[in-house]
Parts: sequence; structure tokens; C-alpha cells
Amino acid sequence: MSILVVGGGGREHALCWALHRDTPDAGLFAAPGNPGTATLGTNLPIAATDVDALVAAVIQHDIEVTIIGPEAPLAAGLADKLHDAGRAVFGPSQAAARLESSKAYAKEVMRRAGVPTGASETFTDLAAALAYIEAHAEPLVVKASGLAAGKGVVVCAARAEAADVARAMLAGSALGEAGREIVVEEFLEGEELSVLALTDGERIVILPPAQDHKRLSEGDTGPNTGGMGAYCPVTLTTDELLARVRRDVLEPVLREMAAQGAPYEGVLYAGLMLAPDGTPKVLEFNCRFGDPEAQAILPILPKGATKHLIDIARGRWRTKRQVIAPTRAAVTTVLAARGYPEKPEKGAAIRLPSDLGPNVVVFHAGTARDADGTIRAAGGRVLSVTGLGSGVAAAARVSRAACDKIAFEGKTWRRDIAWRELQRAGAP
Ligand code: AMP
Ligand code: GLY
Repeated sequence: MSILVVGGGGREHALCWALHRDTPDAGLFAAPGNPGTATLGTNLPIAATDVDALVAAVIQHDIEVTIIGPEAPLAAGLADKLHDAGRAVFGPSQAAARLESSKAYAKEVMRRAGVPTGASETFTDLAAALAYIEAHAEPLVVKASGLAAGKGVVVCAARAEAADVARAMLAGSALGEAGREIVVEEFLEGEELSVLALTDGERIVILPPAQDHKRLSEGDTGPNTGGMGAYCPVTLTTDELLARVRRDVLEPVLREMAAQGAPYEGVLYAGLMLAPDGTPKVLEFNCRFGDPEAQAILPILPKGATKHLIDIARGRWRTKRQVIAPTRAAVTTVLAARGYPEKPEKGAAIRLPSDLGPNVVVFHAGTARDADGTIRAAGGRVLSVTGLGSGVAAAARVSRAACDKIAFEGKTWRRDIAWRELQRAGAP
């Protein structure tokens, strides 16, 4: 069997790592991949958004199953084109990926399906948006409806700020086309949880939930980023909570998508806000694995778990499971380049010790390899460093110790990934 992973970030390296562990004999390809995926398989020099070239490569290399990592190729219809070419693919259709690529659509699906989410309204007209903002309590959250690579959500303390953000987005000056439609939402308080579920549109297997750290700096301060670290498991996750998320969020959304003629398959990521009383409300859906959540979750799934992805892709999934339990704990720390997320500096040479111990997995993201073998920073999030342990406190120590041993000019990271969990556990 040969498998293609589309994408070139830390998430895709983690997918390749898990696939390689489970099926070492499979031919593994990544497009475009990164220096990490190159150690596990063959990188194809094709951009993740070049849909036609990807389809051609799948046929040329006779690749049986394609696993699509990032949102952009899903939103561009890569899964549909591969299906049309008779190939198995893990990832939703373009129509189903609208759950992520249009926040306005996601809100509409949630409204129809009765899924708990913040009160909101969708606007393309500035005057109407301003009237809504005037009439609602601060703080307010203004969201570009389209894909904006993590930059599309602004939490506004004051109405005047919300008005300014709405104006800039709707005018197209903030985020281009992605902001021509906006969602204005009530501010929700609580703790965030990323619940990822595998699905073929009917069956649902919930993976161990993780918690992301979106802010750049320690103590959850500084600008929003794609994610500076994640850990798993999260003790907020009770069996009761997962049953509730299944019943109140995942099942109704899948039913509604099927009813709309856009059945959903792949991984459905619900970004939840848990109110202080534990009630989950949906902040967003993603149509893919989270990054860096994948780098924490995948290494602690039981060996063989990637078979679920392959079986879903092949339309042969017959599982009776409801959840997959984690085998250990994982803490993933992102090492970013100086200047991330605004203007990451590129080019720094990375000193990456070859042996960081048996409980460390380093996933490449924004790295490049020179002809002489030097690894250099080549993007905002450079490496994800996953520490494994029997509990989150041990995993956090392992991750941070490994991060201390990896050196590059401008290395920017948070030493406090999993702080909420450590606080809950009363750990030092
Ligand atoms: P989203 O892409 O919609 O998940 O938003 C990105 C981040 O903005 C989330 O992870 C939250 O930290 C924050 N956020 C989004 N919506 C809200 C909301 N209604 N209330 C509070 N924070 C929010
Ligand atoms: N870490 C959040 C995301 O992948 O969207």
C-alpha cells in the first residue's frame, strides 16, 4: 500500500510518524512534506494547494490512500477530485469543509441542528453590523467568515474596537476576501477544549481531547497564533462531557450535513468553550486535525490507530468503538522563530541533538535542509517538541528539557504549556 500525506507542517510530520509506526512497509509520500517527513518517506515537491498537480501525482505514483492535513486543499476540493479519480481519501469534500471555510455557514448549520454556540449574527453590510454592535454588550468577538490562517478572530473589549475591526474586515483591507463576510459573536468565558472525532459520516470515534495554547506568550498573553503548544489528556474531559459533546454537537452536526447533501467524513474538530459550570459551547469547527494538537494526540494513540483513517478513506470502517483512550500523556511545545506570528525571521541554523531520549519526539514544521545537511528555520512555527510521560507533569518536564537542548538564534517558546492542567493537578 502507498499513502500520501498532503501538507508540510508539524501536524503532517506527526501523521507520517504515526503511519510509519503502524505500517512500516507502506510506501509513504508527503507533499510538500518537510525535512522531518523526508526521514520517513518520499517528499514530493508539490504545494499543498496545487490540487491538479496533487491529483496527477497520486495517479503517477499509484497512491492508494491520500490523507489531507491542512484546510486549504480541502476547501479547494482536493478530496472531491481524488474521489472523481477513483482514489481513497481521508478528508471531507469541499462542500462539507465549508464547516471550517465559512464561519457563517458553520453558524447556520449549528442553528439548524440546535448545537450550543455563542449568540451571533452574520453580516456583509457595514451599517447592519455597526447597529448590531451598538445594541450588544461588550466584550464582542468579530470573526472573518473565510479562512484567515488563525488571524480572523478578534476579541474586542469595547464596542468602538469591534466597530473598527468590522469596518476593516468588511472593506477587505484587513483580510481580503475572507473578511467580506463577518460573524459578530458574544464573548464566552471559560476554558477551551479541542475535541477531535474520526467519522465516516455516521460512526463517530472521539479521540482523546487536547488543549491548545493560542497566545504567543506565557500566561496566555500576547497575540493569537496558530498554536504555541498543546497537551493531552485533559482532566476536564469526563466520560459525561464526551457523551454530551457526542449527543449535542457531533451527532446533530453530522445529521444536518447529511440532510444538506454534504455528508461529512474525515476528522471533525470541535473547538469548545467550557463554561464554568461545564456546559460546552462551540467556538468553531475545523475540518482537519489541529496543529499542534495532532503532535500531542497522535503519539499517544494506541499502536495501529491510523488504521481507522485508512479504513474511513477506503469506505470500509466498521468500528464499534465510541472513543479511543490515550496510552500515555503528551505535552507538545512549539519552538517558533523570532518575530512570529507577524514577521518570522528565517534562516537561523538549528542545533538539533540527535538523541533527546526515548520519550521525546521532535516534529518538523517550518524547517529546510541545506545541501550540507544543516537544518534551518524556514517558517513561523519551526519545530514541535513532544514529551511523553505517564502523566502530564512528567511529559511537560520532558518536553521543556528537550526544548532547552535545541538551539537556534531567535528561538521563541513558552515554558508553561499545560499550565492549567498542572494547576488543576496541584503539581509544581
Ligand atoms: P476560533 O478560530 O473561532 O476558534 O477563534 C480563535 C480563538 O479566539 C479561540 O480559540 C478563542 O480563544 C477565541 N474566541 C473565539 N470566539 C470566542 C468567543 N465567542 N468568546 C471568547 N473567545 C473566543
Ligand atoms: N490549533 C488550532 C488549529 O489547528 O486550528
